[in-house]
Amino acid sequence: MQIAPSILSSDFARLKEEIESIKNCDMVHIDVMDGHFVPNLTFGAPVVKCIRKYTELFFDCHLMISNPLKYAKDFAAAGADLITFHYESDNDPKEVIDEIRRLGCKVGISVKPKTDIKEIDKYLDLVDLVLIMSVEPGFGGQSFMPEVLDKVRYLKSLKKKFVIEIDGGIDDKTIIQAKEAGVDICVAGSYIFKQKDRIETIKKLKSV
Ligand code: DX5
Ligand code: ZN
Repeated sequence: MQIAPSILSSDFARLKEEIESIKNCDMVHIDVMDGHFVPNLTFGAPVVKCIRKYTELFFDCHLMISNPLKYAKDFAAAGADLITFHYESDNDPKEVIDEIRRLGCKVGISVKPKTDIKEIDKYLDLVDLVLIMSVEPGFGGQSFMPEVLDKVRYLKSLKKKFVIEIDGGIDDKTIIQAKEAGVDICVAGSYIFKQKDRIETIKKLKSV
């Protein structure tokens, strides 16, 4: 299992050290919220640019914003490796995919828990990653919604080349359900950042 710690649950005043404490992860999950697409605000591209100076880790930017078409270039310039946008955003998904590709980043598409997975069928050959939300986007520390695992099973059954990531409520127990359904990458925020020894925690989660 690949592990993507979400720095949403980290101490923002000590971001450099917080990223150092998760250095054996597969990628850093960066939750960008605009207070419009979701009822919460986090940070933007300037913060991503600052932390880029201190780590070579792969940056997985999860844009929970209404207008990814407008802002994707700022995140690419700031050092994002993968940019995931929401299918439910205000933009045309195909245009966003083309823009992220043009910028030279890997492309992810995400769906909220209530969105029918079949709605993104026509984009599946165009993306590198599908992010299944297992909580309503907006906040860390919510409970995992096991019913979204049907979407993972459906995606897996298609045998396509994208990888499957899941985000929300992942801990040492829910990760087992995710694994069984066919998830490749688990995002975990509060579970990892509340631990003292994050290196050991990530090691354990990876071995699932
Ligand atoms: C929710 C974010 C998640 C969140 C996960 O909107 O996309 O990445 O930080 O946090 P936990 O692991 O605490 O559910
Ligand atoms: Zn996220």
